[in-house]
Amino acid sequence: MQFKKSKVVIVGCGNVGSTTAYTIINQGLCEEIALIDLNHEKAVGEALDMQHSIYFMNRNIKVYAADYDTCSDADIVIITASVPMDPKANNRLDMLAGSKKVMKSIVTSVMDSGFNGILLVISNPVDVMTYYAWKLSGLPKNQVIGSGTTLDTARLAVEISNLFDLDSKSVSAFVMGEHGDSEIVSWNSATIGGKSLKDVMNDNKDRAQDETFEALRQKTVKAGWEIFHRKGSTTYGIASSAAAIVKSILFNENRILPVSILLEGEYGIDHVFLSVPTIINETGAKEIVEINLDAEEANALQASAKVVASYYDALND
Ligand code: 2OP
Repeated sequence: MQFKKSKVVIVGCGNVGSTTAYTIINQGLCEEIALIDLNHEKAVGEALDMQHSIYFMNRNIKVYAADYDTCSDADIVIITASVPMDPKANNRLDMLAGSKKVMKSIVTSVMDSGFNGILLVISNPVDVMTYYAWKLSGLPKNQVIGSGTTLDTARLAVEISNLFDLDSKSVSAFVMGEHGDSEIVSWNSATIGGKSLKDVMNDNKDRAQDETFEALRQKTVKAGWEIFHRKGSTTYGIASSAAAIVKSILFNENRILPVSILLEGEYGIDHVFLSVPTIINETGAKEIVEINLDAEEANALQASAKVVASYYDALND
């Protein structure tokens, strides 16, 4: 019986790419990890370093530096490379001009290998870059996924859980839309331990400390910048988000995650990559889940779609 190995390629061995690789190793999610970087020696160095960590891990994973030919039999290619972000930046969309050149070069090289797996895009501005990767690759929409607001959803859960001294995994509240300033929260469907968040906030005013939903959303939007402006990047949150998506694909989990995906009429939005709750399994994005948004949330999601789509023309020049 031919054992079906699972292979993940990571393009970009900067903070995000190398931390994503190490997170996948730590969780033992696949048999092989190939690292690609413009600076091949950096990829070699990262691979050698990670090889030594595997001695202590639960699973023997082959990790090595490679060129794009390695993508031909990969299950997943994770694209993390982008241009360096201006240290004073405060909007991921400002990276578009540089990142689109990088994305075009990467996706062209990946597809030239004969790749037919799942593209997971992390490079910012992630919603626009995922749309661009889909256009360039010609892959079916279910095989092109952006990390999107999976990370923001975790950040919101942490903010809320801190109010009530709870495990953040007990909070269920989707952040949707742009991975950025126009993202929205589906407060209507937010719960803690099965109780609506609205009721929890009302019943625990002492602990909710007059926190408002908008204040919580703003903290979530700003969370990445609080980190970036202190350490020059974010790594562990985004790497763990990527690993959760990889796990749901490789383990065929059918987990619902708010990833950036092509909408074609869902939520009244068409031909835009935006984060909405999506069932993720071995086929990639199996199915979009249309949760009940109230009128304000639905309008805000459509406004977010307009923000993201307004940058598509810039991809053509
Ligand atoms: C973040 O918010 C990298 O955009 C990602 O951390």
